[in-house]
Amino acid sequence: MKTVNEADITPAVLERLADCDDPRFKQIMTSLITHLHAFVRDVRLTEEEWMAAIQFLTRTGQTCTDKRQEFILLSDTLGVSILVITINHPADDGSAESTVMGPFYWENSPEMPLGADLSVGVKGEPTFYSGRVLDANTGAPLANAQLDIWSGDGEGTYDMQMPGDVGMKARGRIRTDAQGRYWFRSIRPTYYPVPTDGPVGDMLKKMGRHPNRPGHIHMIVSAEGHRPVTTHLFVANSPFLDSDAVFGVKDSLIARFDKHPPGKAPDGSQVDQPFYTCEYDFRLRPAV
Ligand code: BEZ
Ligand code: FE
Repeated sequence: MKTVNEADITPAVLERLADCDDPRFKQIMTSLITHLHAFVRDVRLTEEEWMAAIQFLTRTGQTCTDKRQEFILLSDTLGVSILVITINHPADDGSAESTVMGPFYWENSPEMPLGADLSVGVKGEPTFYSGRVLDANTGAPLANAQLDIWSGDGEGTYDMQMPGDVGMKARGRIRTDAQGRYWFRSIRPTYYPVPTDGPVGDMLKKMGRHPNRPGHIHMIVSAEGHRPVTTHLFVANSPFLDSDAVFGVKDSLIARFDKHPPGKAPDGSQVDQPFYTCEYDFRLRPAV
């Protein structure tokens, strides 16, 4: 048994990976241990600070429920989620850029016909969304592509956060027509804060950071034979575009929302209040 000191503790821990027979796991653990030790040395971590970190992580775990994932929120607010996404979906591959999924996705939202209104019973300014889904290599339209869409209401509240069991609101799945076109009605999303009543909220406050995300609507765009993309459209000129609490904004995902006076909407319906239109084409890479 050898006494370890500050200098040789790192190689001593790494040596214990000698019998690890999963090369990828070994690579990840080697790097994690090396960086973690370097961090502790770098800040000369005190025992009190180490204990505060243990308690913070414990509370983070205890805050997770089947409806809330505080660890993902921690990863999001530290920029780790978007780093992983960006490494795995580089911007230059020609496809629509990916961004964070967030905690408010609900699988199996209703399948709706083209032109459907996702915002029935939802507060907010009417918005008519349209565009195409295209092959990123050839530009060919992708028929029957699916857009799985969700957003908060016009006040930044998701159905899952509304009091009582309101069921699914401002979400639905639609499919493109034979020309790869989609169109639907919803609301213009506004900025909102990520959940701040847990340890991540405390961390943001202590860091002097605001918790807000700029207005956005989420989509998972998928088509047969193509790589699906989990993304958002961000509302141009929304507050917090330059300081998204989860670093999810990408320039290519900022969309214009054009305002129109009350009158005839693109779907031919009469709208008795000002409304917006937003047009955006999504490109998908063929699957390898
Ligand atoms: C969201 O956009 O829904 C979201 C993303 C990350 C953290 C919290 C919310
Ligand atoms: Fe969101």
